[in-house]
This record gives sequence, structure tokens and C-alpha cells, in this order.
Amino acid sequence: MAPSEYVQPVVSSESVFKKDLFKGKVLFCTGGGSGICRGMTEAMMRHGANATIVGRNLERLTQTSKELSQSTGQICIPAQADVRKPETLKEAVAKTIEKFGRIDYVICGAAGNFLAPISGLSENAFRTVMEIDTIGTYNTVKATIGHVRSSKGAYIHVSATLHYNATPFQAHVSAAKAGVDALSAVIAVEEGPHGVRSNVIAPGPIANTEGMDRLSAKGETRSAVRNYPVGRMGEVKDIENATVFLFSDAAAYITGQTIAVDGGAWHLQSAM
Ligand code: HXC
Repeated sequence: MAPSEYVQPVVSSESVFKKDLFKGKVLFCTGGGSGICRGMTEAMMRHGANATIVGRNLERLTQTSKELSQSTGQICIPAQADVRKPETLKEAVAKTIEKFGRIDYVICGAAGNFLAPISGLSENAFRTVMEIDTIGTYNTVKATIGHVRSSKGAYIHVSATLHYNATPFQAHVSAAKAGVDALSAVIAVEEGPHGVRSNVIAPGPIANTEGMDRLSAKGETRSAVRNYPVGRMGEVKDIENATVFLFSDAAAYITGQTIAVDGGAWHLQSAM
């Protein structure tokens, strides 16, 4: 493949969507303390939402909450919870309701990953990633669904594209994210009649994230990126824009879908 001659621009959601799109709405985001999910939360807040960010590291959550509140003028609160422990998630939901009185949107973003061949993957290592990604998503949905039904809200599940083809050293995450995709589709079908939508965002390689740091052989990635159909690596802003769109009423007829936000990269992998 020849390198792309045109590089798609990186744009901010505010240049496309109304600033007060989510005024009065509340987001509950697991994994929101850092990386892609922090960006997704900030974007929702820049468009008027208040938010609870949920994770294991209270210090990091507290710092991020302060920064997001300052940068957006909305309210963000931290809630410490481990998505593997339903009781802690229920407490995070209770804290959110006490503070904001409602939950409209949920991002199931908490995830765990590392590179390991299946021969080096212990039973506990495999189970740990399944528990964080797949069971963590189930636990988050169970803890929030009553409130999301009441507000006729929506879910976005953060998945991946690496299980569309067989990705070496990613058996655990491939199995876990396939489970997440399946859960989202069933939630869409079962909860649609209650006014709830459920979709998946599958990010490709996104620059400056923990996921990329953990997974990439950097030189290799740089040369592959030149051949991406859009001519560049993904940015957190690309995921933010998809998030704002999918939660907005512009996506009212979209549910049970996966949007790969990867610059067309996975199609390229399958063509190689
Ligand atoms: C093999 C490993 C390993 C490695 C951990 N384990 N790292 N095995 N290779 N590199 C094993 C451990 O030895 C242990 O098994 C088991 O996994 C559980 O490890 P713990 O450290 O006890 O678990 P815990 O403290 O709960 O940590 C969970 C974690 C950790 C997933 C292992 O990395 C974590 O907290 N990650 C959260 C942040 C994160 O991963 N972010 C990236 C998300 S990116 P034994 O048998 O020894 O007990 C992402 C994007 C995917 O998901 C798509 C990208 C394109």
C-alpha cells in the first residue's frame, strides 16, 4: 500500500456540536480517571454534562475531577470503585444520585491489558482481564440500568478492533472485548423498548494513551501508520467526537452498533 496522500484533520467536538447539547444531563464513566475515557468525559462536560468518574485510584480520580471541572466549568466528582466488585459500583451510583439526582449516560470504559502469549497467560491472568472488561461491563450495566431507563439514556462501551482478526498476544483481551460487543448488542435489543440505547466504540491505535504504551512496538507502529487510509494515528479527540455524536439525539436511531474509530486501520489489516 502507498502512504496516504491526504491526512485527515483532528477537530474538536465544539467545532461541530452545540455547546449546551447535554445541559442538565449526567454522565457516569468507569475508567474516567485517565486516557481515552478521561477525554470522553471532558468532551461530554464541554457540552454541558456533569459527570462522575469511577476507578480504583482515588488520588488520580480526585485530581482528574478537579482538572475537568476547571477546564469545562461543569461539575465532576470522583467515585472509587473496582468494576469487579458490584457493591463498590452500587456505592458509586448512590454517590452520583445523591449529588446529581440522575444518570443519563454511561461509559463502560474500565479495562485491563498487557501483551502475553497464551502459553504465558496464567489462569488468573486470563480471568483478571475477563473480570475487568467483560464482567466489569455487566456489573456496571446492572448497577446503572434503573437510572438509565428512567432518563431514557444511553450506554457506550469501549471495546477494541483486535478481535476482528486474530491478534497475537491478545487472547485474553480479544475474548473479553468480544464479550463486551455481544453484551452491548443484547442490551440494545432488550432495553430499546424502555428507551435505552447501547452502542460500542472500538478505538484503533490512539496516540498518547496507556493502552498504546502497553501494546505498541513503537517503530513498527509509526511505519504502519503512514499506510492508514486516513494517513495518521488516532487522537483521543477522535474518540471524543464519536462519543458526543453517539450520545446525542442525532444518533437516536442508532443502537446495537459498533463504530470502529480507527482511521480504517482494521480493514487494512484484514487486506494484508
Ligand atoms: C503475563 C501478567 C502480566 C503480563 C499481569 N499478569 N501482567 N501475565 N504477562 N504482562 C498476570 C499476573 O501475573 C497475575 O497472574 C494476573 O495477571 C493478575 O495480575 P495482578 O497484577 O494481580 O492484577 P491487578 O492488580 O488486578 O491488575 C490488573 C492488570 C493490570 C490488568 C494486570 O495491568 C491493570 O490494572 N491494568 C489497568 C490499566 C490498563 O491495563 N490499561 C490499559 C487498558 S488498554 P498470576 O497467575 O501471577 O496470579 C486496553 C486497550 C485494548 O484495554 C485495545 C488496544 C488496541
